Parts: sequence; structure tokens; C-alpha cells
Amino acid sequence: MELQSLKYIAKQLMAGNKGLLAMDESTNTCNKRFKALNIPQTEEYRRKYRDLIVNTPKLEEAISGAILFDETIRQSTSDGKLFVEILKEKGIIPGIKVDESARDMDGFPGEKITEGLDGLQERLAEYYKMGARFAKWRAVITIGENTPTSGSIKANAFLLARYAIICQEAGIVPIVEPEVLMDGDHSLQTCAEVTNEVLHTVFNQLYQQRVNFEGMILKPNMIVPGIKAAQQDSADVVADATINCFLRCVPAAVPGIAFLSGGQSPELASERLNAMHVRFRDKMPWALTFSYSRAVQQPALEKWGGKDENIEEAQKLLYERAYINTVARDGKYTPELEKHPVA
Ligand code: 13P
Repeated sequence: MELQSLKYIAKQLMAGNKGLLAMDESTNTCNKRFKALNIPQTEEYRRKYRDLIVNTPKLEEAISGAILFDETIRQSTSDGKLFVEILKEKGIIPGIKVDESARDMDGFPGEKITEGLDGLQERLAEYYKMGARFAKWRAVITIGENTPTSGSIKANAFLLARYAIICQEAGIVPIVEPEVLMDGDHSLQTCAEVTNEVLHTVFNQLYQQRVNFEGMILKPNMIVPGIKAAQQDSADVVADATINCFLRCVPAAVPGIAFLSGGQSPELASERLNAMHVRFRDKMPWALTFSYSRAVQQPALEKWGGKDENIEEAQKLLYERAYINTVARDGKYTPELEKHPVA
């Protein structure tokens, strides 16, 4: 394993006040988002949309790395240039989603298991040649009346750890993403207990599978109440619960933590990231940033709506949302910024 190179990539991904852009929606997920906005669910429209994203002016000022999907890493702009080439020219590191999505977990009603280890070595070798230098695997943990079970947490953690060591051996930085879903009406306290258990289990498995903590990035959920919970806690409460949990669970050797947004509004995702930096700036051993998909893309996707004449406006919104999150990473976000984001 070439640890120096993994450490260097991880450091670049977490540099300054930038964050990651998750643009790795699977065909199913992308089509679901398109359908809601009456955008045609075809390969060409998915290509057009990703073309819009990679060609967003100034994107590289806010984004250090972009996570692509298998279809996307093979696609090109309308004038025939591979998206990966555009990203590299901008100094944005290309990454790749390598899990093959979460599916119902046999024997565990209501829970999910993520697949994708078969042939992973070969796929990684190909992605490396195409320019990918980091990867992502998302495990899904569901909070319900009788879930999550320790059986599903352990199985998902084991697979995350196997994926991570295989990536490191291939010279690719693994983003380890155990997502505790926001779906439901559970309290912030429940999310905290589950996330605590999940992270301890994941780091235990990472250790057992000989993953080098210095050469990986964690992509976790924030500790938040369920989306339907009666009590919606303040950004400060979310920040305290989240960082106090990580301080107990995430080794200091891990260079970076980059949040998923998980269905939070773009504004809340920024406000909460900001609160963590304001309250814990000097107490965190790792760099802390964003790796949002919906919370960065949604306003731009809605503005675009599949229409060429809206591309420029949509790109402006995409850049603004990414920029606002860099301000949050500096701990300087204010709600005022939402009105006049870019000075
Ligand atoms: P969201 O920010 O929309 O949760 O997506 C992040 C991601 O990469 C999910 O795997």
C-alpha cells in the first residue's frame, strides 16, 4: 500500500475551506429526482445535467473533489471531452461510487445491506486508469421500531471495511459512508445512540480489516432528529451532539470527515456545518467539511428543469450553494448570506 500517496490525496480533498460534491446518483436515484421535476429520464438528459455541473464556472473555488457514477465517469461534454478531463483541468479530483446500492437485507425485515464487492479489484483498476483517485461506498442504517439490529450494523460495517482495504491496496482513498437515515419521527437522542453504535462498529471493523486510518475519509450523517420528529433541535444542539459523538468514536488519525446531507434543506445543512465550526474549531483533530449531493444540487436541478435556456442560472445557483458551504466551513455563515450569497 502506498500510504504516502493516499495521505496526500486525502489531504488535498480536505484542503482549505473546500468540500466534495457528490454527483454520483445511481441511474435509479437520478431518474427519481428527474421524474419529480418532469425532466426526461434518459441517458442523454443525465449527461446534459452532469455536463452543466462540471462546467459550472468557479466550481473549483469551492469543490476539491467530485464523486461520479459509473455511467458519468464514461460520459463527455457535448463537444466530446470526458467529464473527468474537465474536472482534472479545474484541479478537482475525480472520485467514483463503487457500491452497487443498498437492497433489502435477507433475514432482516426493514433493513438494508449494500452490495458491490464482487469484481471490485478489477473495477478499481479500471477507474484508476480513468483518473479516479478516491471512491465511495454507502451503507444504510434504518431507524425503526425494532431496527437497527446489531446483525445488520455488523454486516454493513464488515463490508465497508473490506471495500476500504481493497481501495487502499488499489491506490484509491476510500470514503467510508455509514448513513443513519433521517427518515422517521425518532428523536435526536435516538439518532445519537444509533450513530454512536454504528461508528464504533465501523471503526472496529476498519481496524480488524487493516484499513489505514490516515488514508481514508469518513462520510457520516449529522446527528439530527428524524424528519418527522415533533421536536426539531437547533443547529447548536445538532453541532454539540454530532461533534461530541465523533470525538468519542472517530480516531484522530482520520484526516477528514465530510458530511452527507441526507435530505436536510440546503440552508440547514449549511447552518449546522457552520455551528460545528463555530463551537468546536480548536477541539477537532480532523478536518470537517461537506460532501453533499441534494443540499448543493437541488436548487440548481430545479432551476434547470431539463431546459437548455436555464443552464446559466442553474450553474449560478450550484456555485452559490457550494460557496455558502465554504463559508460555513470557515464558521462565518449567516442567514443573511442566503439573500446575497456571492458578493
Ligand atoms: P446527500 O447529500 O443527498 O445525502 O447525498 C450524499 C451522498 O453521497 C449519499 O450517498
